[in-house]
Amino acid sequence: MKLIHTIGDLRQALAEARAKGEKIGLVPTMGALHAGHASLVRRSVEENGLTVVSVFLNPTQFNDKKDLERYPRTLEADCALLEQVGADIVFAPSVEEMYPEPDTRRFSYPPVDMVMEGAFRPGHFNGVCQIVSKLFAAVEPDRAYFGEKDFQQIAVVRAMVKDLGFGVEIVPCPVVREESGLAMSSRNTLLTDEERAVAANIYAVLSKSRNFASTHTLAETRRYVVDALNAIVGLEVEYYSIVDGDTLQELAHWADSDNIVGCITVFCGSKPIRLIDHIRYKG
Ligand code: PAF
Repeated sequence: MKLIHTIGDLRQALAEARAKGEKIGLVPTMGALHAGHASLVRRSVEENGLTVVSVFLNPTQFNDKKDLERYPRTLEADCALLEQVGADIVFAPSVEEMYPEPDTRRFSYPPVDMVMEGAFRPGHFNGVCQIVSKLFAAVEPDRAYFGEKDFQQIAVVRAMVKDLGFGVEIVPCPVVREESGLAMSSRNTLLTDEERAVAANIYAVLSKSRNFASTHTLAETRRYVVDALNAIVGLEVEYYSIVDGDTLQELAHWADSDNIVGCITVFCGSKPIRLIDHIRYKG
């Protein structure tokens, strides 16, 4: 496995693979890797001749400075895990390498980027598109792997790929969960053991809401989830939106779509840590 820090060196390493006709898979990450990331890398290794994993804590997608400051940085451990799961190249550039000049590009993909994370984290998806477009331009991957935990991010990246005409297939991969059901996230390491146990209620309540939904209206189901989670000390729901899985727009009735997903953001603990998850009701 090669550890590469510059776009020039990366292009050179990839040119050799491309000359041999190998397919290139890209797994973009911000580091602090866990079993969820490992599953993306394994999938890429299975499906491509060469797998690049980018490890770059992208400052432009953080609308909250504190969130960026406390985000775990663990490059050494990340490389050890990536070696184990068979990555070929770890691309870990500096901020100056990715942003030699401030990135003034503006990306806008309504309606998918206007709601939920787009509304609650202004500028977040613009930053995601800035870095992902730079990574796609540098790597020119055949396939790029994204975790479905960031459900809305996949829709925004797909819109960007269509807009800019990148020849990359976006491969969504299932959420990996801890034994407790908590969706794996780099931010989980910022939780105390107690908070982690409390956070497991997020998926427990979402799962129960699937049964509840079979005998209740969409509005009642939404309220059930919000009230059940807000009743637990240490949790506070920021939003719970039950949306069409393609347009990500809120629905009023179960009959309004065949593809229905509930997307949630919950603050957990005293710091607090912002956690996201989702559940599929239909489709
Ligand atoms: O999902 C993430 O970890 C990030 O948003 C990504 C796609 C690596 C871009 O920085």
